[in-house]
Amino acid sequence: MKLFSAFGVFVLLASAMVACSAPTTSQTPANGSPASTAPFVLAEPNDVELKALSQSYTGYASLNTQLRLSPQHGGIYVRTHLDPVALKAFNAKSYPFPEGALAFKEGHVGAEGPIERIYVMKKIPGYDPANGDWFYAMLAPDGAPRLKGKVPLCINCHAGAKNKDYIFGFE
Ligand code: HEC
Repeated sequence: MKLFSAFGVFVLLASAMVACSAPTTSQTPANGSPASTAPFVLAEPNDVELKALSQSYTGYASLNTQLRLSPQHGGIYVRTHLDPVALKAFNAKSYPFPEGALAFKEGHVGAEGPIERIYVMKKIPGYDPANGDWFYAMLAPDGAPRLKGKVPLCINCHAGAKNKDYIFGFE
């Protein structure tokens, strides 16, 4: 009997250790939890800020007036907007982009369709040095995040524009 309870304690300890060493994910879950409470992701936009960005980005300059088909974004039609800081660096080909630079891509289901999603990139020095310090998010039309953080899907493909500090543009 004693042997059994000792074994039980061992199993408990072992599972606790496994739980503690479980790998952490760098991707913030899109569950509406306030990202701003996490001290190690300083300056990562929280959900309230993302919602505000989803409403204000149309005031920034766009690289294309006509929607363009983007095979890379699930075959949707896109329009890219850059905030003044990002636009200045983009036009001057001055890399890396400065702190706070913002890039947006508005995604429509068809050439005439409504907005289906909004892509966001924000430059946050020290946020993700291995991948150009970009924060990525994909938002619903109402600004609610569907994906956000150091999203591997976004990072891996945007690495193709590493020589332009991860911003493709249309060239
Ligand atoms: C398979 C490749 C691929 C993936 C995956 C991808 N992108 Fe892009 N992204 C591109 C390309 C190529 C462009 C520019 C041309 C275009 O849209 O066709 C672009 C443009 C952008 C832009 C406008 C700035 C720029 O680089 O021109 C933003 C913002 C953006 N993407 C965000 C995201 C986010 C956020 C994700 C992840 C949810 C993501 N992208 C996933 C390839 C990709």
